[in-house]
This record gives sequence, structure tokens and C-alpha cells, in this order.
Amino acid sequence: MSGMTLATISHVYAGRKVLDTVSLVIRPGEMVALVGPSGSGKSTLASIAAGIVKPTKGRILRQYRQHAMVFQQARLLPWANARENIAFPLMLNGLRKREALEKAESVAEKVALLPEDFDKMPGELSGGMRARVAIARALGVAPDFLIFDEPFAALDPALRRRLQDLVLSLGQDRAFGGMFITHDLAEAARLADHIAVLDRQGKGVLGTLTPPGQRGHRSDVDIFDFVQQSLYGDPLLSDLVHVDERAMPLDLVGDAGLGPRRCC
Ligand SMILES: Nc1ncnc2c1ncn2[C@@H]1O[C@H](COP(=O)(O)OP(=O)(O)O)[C@@H](O)[C@H]1O
Ligand SMILES: [Mg+2]
Repeated sequence: MSGMTLATISHVYAGRKVLDTVSLVIRPGEMVALVGPSGSGKSTLASIAAGIVKPTKGRILRQYRQHAMVFQQARLLPWANARENIAFPLMLNGLRKREALEKAESVAEKVALLPEDFDKMPGELSGGMRARVAIARALGVAPDFLIFDEPFAALDPALRRRLQDLVLSLGQDRAFGGMFITHDLAEAARLADHIAVLDRQGKGVLGTLTPPGQRGHRSDVDIFDFVQQSLYGDPLLSDLVHVDERAMPLDLVGDAGLGPRRCC
């Protein structure tokens, strides 16, 4: 069973603090969703969790064998076809090219890619197919901890739901944990055991919500009710409702005394 602890993580980009003493515990086998308005530092925290960005301060305790990350943009290698994209990390992990390509095909089938798509270049794949290739690429290395950074944000609702179902089925098949970043509370309520709410300015996790019932067994009605009650009744989520990504961080507004702008 795999988990992660992020302890008092702070991060500074170009002299500006974007995360300030953020702590988050993902217990073994849990999927924790992280929600927060745009610009609150979710992607930065995901990159820190994945070891892509080294935090300015803080500690990370990793309790898993191998992690993988799925980004919002598929980030496929433009010069490689779907099969080769999925095989690439396998080869980096030491598999010979032929074995890696064979394994890539079996993983591609798990995410419902068809053999006729395997030879297509990224530019010939639809957005949904590219997302599936990116997920297959992450799953190929058999991770036991997954970090998702808004992977389905740009997809149409039907495909989004299919891929959410895939994430749920993975959670049932394997004892893995993970972090799922989204700004869609319904998606968080569908996929996660708990939902951590990040402060608008990355100043810590404001609190955690736990939707009723068990991940994977919540009905659409349960999720809808939970979202309505939380969004409009829980002060924890007021920033998610009222702030848009044009809202300026307080430290940029500074002495002008304008305060953060709020949308509509
Ligand atoms: N590589 C970077 N260099 C400088 N600033 C960055 C970089 N990445 C993100 N930021 C800034 O850090 C803040 C948090 O960004 P991000 O983590 O992408 O937030 P979110 O994912 O919640 O939208 C934003 O103000 C963003 O402009
Ligand atoms: Mg982001």
C-alpha cells in the first residue's frame, strides 16, 4: 500500500512565494484530490510531489515503489507514434525496444486504444486519444502511486467520464495511492477518498472534505448533492466559487491596497 506525506512545503518562483508551508498526508492506498483556484500552486505541488521540482523548503516522505505522473497536456513526444510514446519510459527503465513496444501495446489496450491507433503520430490522434496515450505511458511502468494534474480538464464530458472510470478501476485492481488535482469538485468527489482544499495563495491546505460513501460506489445523485452542499454551504470552498484566474495574488497588489479582485 502506497502513500505520501508532504511536510511544510514552501516554494519560491522568481522571488515570489507560490507555496507557503503546505502539508498534505496521503495515507497508504488513498486517492486524495487537491482542489484550489487557478494559480494557487496545485501544479507546483504536483511537480514537487513527483520530484520534478525541488521545493525551496519542506520534506517529502514517499511510501511507494514507483510513481508516475499524468499532466494536463498529454506532452507526447512529437516524433514518436502512440506505441513508441508508451514504450519510451519502459525503455528508460531498461526494457529492450522490442519488449517495450510489445508491453506498450498491451497497456494501450487497457486504456481502450485500438490497434489501428498504435501507429498514429500525436498530431493524428484526437485529444481523447492523446490523453489515453499519456495515461498508458504512465501506467506502463506499473506505478503504485499516481499523480494526476488535471488530466481530463480539456476533454468532453463523455470521454472524461470514461477515463474517470478507468482511474476508479485501477484503484480497485491495485493497492495504489495517489494525488488527483482538479478544479472540478464533482470529479474530485467521484474519484477521491478525501478532498484537500488549497488556499488561494498556496498558504497551506485550508481543510479536507470527505464525500459520503466509498470512492467508486458514490452515485451521481450523491455526488451532485455533495457538490451543491459543499460549494454553496461550505466556507472552505468559497474561493473556488468566487475567484477566477485573473484574481491577483495579494503580494502582487501590495501597497496599492486594492486587495484581490473577485470575479462577477
Ligand atoms: N516555472 C515557473 N516559473 C515561474 N512561476 C511559475 C512557474 N510555474 C508556475 N509559476 C507561478 O506559480 C503560481 C502557481 O502556479 P501553478 O502551480 O501552475 O498553479 P495552479 O496549478 O494551481 O493553477 C502561479 O502564479 C504561476 O504563474
Ligand atoms: Mg495547474
